[in-house]
Amino acid sequence: MKFFTLVIYLLLQLATRSIRPAIAQSWPVHDNGLNKVVSGRDHYSLIVNGERVFVWSGELHLWRIPVPELWQDILEKIKAAGFNGIGLYELWGWHAPNNETLDFETGAHDFATIFDIAKVLGLYVVYRPGPHSNAEATGGGFPGWLTTGEYGPLRDDDPRYTAAWERYSGAVAEYVRPHLITNGGPVILWQIENEYGVQWLDPDAKVPNETAIAYMEQLQNHHRAWEIDVPFMGNNPNMWTRSWSKDYGNTGAEVDLYGLDHYPACWTCNLEICLPVNGAVEPYTVFDYYTHFQQVSPTQPSFLMEFQGGSYNPWDGPAGGCGELMDSIWVNMFYRHNLAEKVSAVNIYMLMGGTNWGNLGFPEVGTSYDYSSPIHENRLISEKYNEGKLFGLFMRVARDFAKVERIGNGTAYTTNAEVMATELRNPDTGARFYITRHDYSPSTEKSQFRLRISTESGNFLVPQQGSLTLDSISSKTIVTDFRIGATNKKIAYSKVEILTVSDLGERQVVVLWAPRGEDGEILLRGATSAKVASDNAGAETSFTVTEHGLIANFKIQERNIVIDIDNGVQLVVVDRDSGYQIWAPTLTADPQAWENKTVLVHGPYLVRSAAIDGDSLALRGDWSNETAVEIWAPSDIREVTFNGDKLATERSAYGSLIGLLPATQVTVDTIAAQLPSLGSWKVANGLPESALEYDDSRWTDANHMTTPNFSPPDTYPVLYADEYGYQAGNLLWRGHFNVTEDKRPSSAYLRVIGGLASGFSAYVNGHFVGTWLGSISNKTGELKVSLEDVQFNVGADNVLFIIQDTTGKDQREGAPDPRGILNASLFASDGSSLNFTSWKLTGNAGGNHLIEPVRGTWNEGGLHAERLGWHLPGFDDSDWEDGLPSEGFKGADARFYRTVVSLDMPRGFDVHLGFELNRLPHAKLRAQLYVNGYMFGKIIPISNEFSFPVFPGILNYHGENTIGLSI
Ligand SMILES: *[C@@H]1O[C@H](CO)[C@@H](O)[C@H](O)[C@H]1NC(C)=O
Ligand SMILES: *[C@@H]1O[C@H](CO)[C@@H](O)[C@H](O)[C@H]1NC(C)=O
Ligand SMILES: *[C@@H]1O[C@H](CO)[C@@H](O)[C@H](O)[C@H]1NC(C)=O
Ligand SMILES: *[C@@H]1O[C@H](CO)[C@@H](O)[C@H](O)[C@H]1NC(C)=O
Repeated sequence: MKFFTLVIYLLLQLATRSIRPAIAQSWPVHDNGLNKVVSGRDHYSLIVNGERVFVWSGELHLWRIPVPELWQDILEKIKAAGFNGIGLYELWGWHAPNNETLDFETGAHDFATIFDIAKVLGLYVVYRPGPHSNAEATGGGFPGWLTTGEYGPLRDDDPRYTAAWERYSGAVAEYVRPHLITNGGPVILWQIENEYGVQWLDPDAKVPNETAIAYMEQLQNHHRAWEIDVPFMGNNPNMWTRSWSKDYGNTGAEVDLYGLDHYPACWTCNLEICLPVNGAVEPYTVFDYYTHFQQVSPTQPSFLMEFQGGSYNPWDGPAGGCGELMDSIWVNMFYRHNLAEKVSAVNIYMLMGGTNWGNLGFPEVGTSYDYSSPIHENRLISEKYNEGKLFGLFMRVARDFAKVERIGNGTAYTTNAEVMATELRNPDTGARFYITRHDYSPSTEKSQFRLRISTESGNFLVPQQGSLTLDSISSKTIVTDFRIGATNKKIAYSKVEILTVSDLGERQVVVLWAPRGEDGEILLRGATSAKVASDNAGAETSFTVTEHGLIANFKIQERNIVIDIDNGVQLVVVDRDSGYQIWAPTLTADPQAWENKTVLVHGPYLVRSAAIDGDSLALRGDWSNETAVEIWAPSDIREVTFNGDKLATERSAYGSLIGLLPATQVTVDTIAAQLPSLGSWKVANGLPESALEYDDSRWTDANHMTTPNFSPPDTYPVLYADEYGYQAGNLLWRGHFNVTEDKRPSSAYLRVIGGLASGFSAYVNGHFVGTWLGSISNKTGELKVSLEDVQFNVGADNVLFIIQDTTGKDQREGAPDPRGILNASLFASDGSSLNFTSWKLTGNAGGNHLIEPVRGTWNEGGLHAERLGWHLPGFDDSDWEDGLPSEGFKGADARFYRTVVSLDMPRGFDVHLGFELNRLPHAKLRAQLYVNGYMFGKIIPISNEFSFPVFPGILNYHGENTIGLSI
């Protein structure tokens, strides 16, 4: 009888909420027989060292931050925001300037240091070595020499390509193997290939693509043979190609863990490119990942291997990027929406973008790779970072989320038809998470509602007083039966969100947050009394004792409210701004960051670390203005230091320590006053190669009459720089021809391929004949020029000179697209053509055989100044003339400007410097900025970005700096 009553009750519940019951099912734990203990995974989550983990990871590109001394700074910021992992691509081309050299040693080519830093800080690494990476890098990371056609179309099982990647991947496996978690390191997952969604010729019918499958098999077999024993994962580029999941396919080439990449707001600031692809017609549209993962990878954790952190900015994109399309509001709703989709692993792409310095970008993207990321290109943290921290610190303590079923979703959960909720439940503990948002996710309405929840203590309509609010685009996570750290104390429900929990032993501090002005309600199981402990009594604070425990009601204000509960829990209630100032540094290097191994600090711009030694707490962090600091630490702490200096503190009535960090002597104004004026420059002619008499005898002969490339040129010899060993930046071509009395050219036709936004200029016998300024929609430029005004040398040598500014190689199947001249034709006035007698070419000094490995293969092109080292410190310009870039010059010519300036930045301060270049609006120019030899800024005719941050370490903060500017 009882049994039937129960069933009827359940059915009633289902009827009122239109809930689909979770099918009781036991899920297999996958382990490959290799490493169950270290890193297993199932339908719910990854299991690392026996603990379930919600993987919260963010991507950074080390080669875009080419100062290894800064990597710790960035990883500390990542850790401080509550992340437990980082995503790291390798870039083959960065390490392999030619087919013989592999550099994992010099400067920023040595990535091994990052694993040590990650280990010390307690961050897992999701490692993604390619061989192909995309990454908005030139050639998608493929080295230029690989893309000539000589190695086939690439990313397949062609033996020529195979031999090439075996060499590179084998070396990578060798140096990264000691850093696998199975060997005590931080690497938990190894990605095979990248966005290689080509397993099926037809994903619905599962018609296999045999060459792709053979390639994936080779990659995995090799890596296993190289003793890479962590799970292999894949990242499918979209929801329809469904490649490489063991739950979906059975071809033998599937990876251990399926991952999906998704960018709801587009991956580029140029929405025209991506909106039609991802199908979001409106900003702030959310997507259904749950159905996808249930279809493709139901026995695996739902892993968003790349989830939008921002967007890259194309050359013609808005100055500063398009951050407003994915701002802190975006972060608030979309990060929580992923929870609603039962996602248990996320890698934010990018968490820090960095700089597209030198020629390392693929054609579309400009010099900045800020990516509107939470951590900016200049390393400053953003509002978006702080909003993400509210999420990250919560997920760190929401341990029950690492094993949840999605129970139901819909507007029936709420009392407002505009508001929906998704219910997720941990089958072991019964803890639930209700993710609420507007049913129409882009809605900017202010909506009040109450939520129907289930708890161990019964069902409630919460809040019991007042209502929940969603003000415009936003989302709130309401928890039930939430365990407080490792204690048996529980929050039956909380109407406001939990920010974080710190278990200090004698008490557990629970930080709650909501937007200012909203009110909060929390039911603490088993508690019987409470008192407001802060002097901010919060007039609207009240307590009600019920049969289930104590209900606290309060109003969120600018000033924090502290409430002591009789069960030893201390509530700290903060608004959003105050929440942004909360840090929960960990006392151990465990990525799991247990609540009983953290302290809380309120106030500073950044808290990087905390360590306890006896009764002393050492904090490290950043601040500038006078900053009140409040610290929650174990009660036996008597002394606090901040960055090594003693911080005087007083104990508050409720046990926290309160101190004051004084305003720093150094301010933006004092720094600005110290900056050199850049008022004195030297100048030299930057384009002697256009002259007829220029001696090109030591340039490379461009004389190939056949090419391995798949797209043959219109005219011969083959003028593809790639196959002559030049792969970056400016390329210089000289075509020699003879003229007779009877036959002289009257026009020329040129078709030159340099990538989107590339450009070229042509000169005959030193006379400028025409230019292609470049466009973001055309990778090939075309010119038909008249040569009527040109003086020819009858019976002697004449020269067509072309300077071409390339913008990198395309990604994926576009990588073998050549860079060079597709068609160079001279025509006489009767329409007949004239032949060239020979062609010469030059590019970066040394070509693929670098003369300077540290700045690496993509820093320089073939500009006169670059080949002669004018951009480098130490070049003697004493016989150059004085001249200012601001005075400039007229005509189709080039100049190189140099100046040397001293900096003496105050020590102990993290000063962010950059350059701003102001171009006359009508000037159609290409300019490159060099800082101590590194190319760190570039302007082309379609640029909108004129501001270029430069990392310390590129700039010498305590000495001389050589600044070069090519125009
Ligand atoms: C590099 O390429 C050259 C020219 O194609 C070839 O002779 C040489 O064997 C290659 N080296 C390796 C290690 O593949
Ligand atoms: C099959 O795989 C090859 C790579 O080996 C790829 O070039 C091709 O585009 C794939 N076909 C489809 C239909 O995805
Ligand atoms: C979510 O809601 C949709 C629409 O009501 C429904 O079709 C779907 O089954 C629900 N999914 C879950 C897991 O509850
Ligand atoms: C700290 O928390 C962890 C995880 O819940 C637990 O295993 C450990 O026993 C706790 N340590 C102390 C000293 O309470």
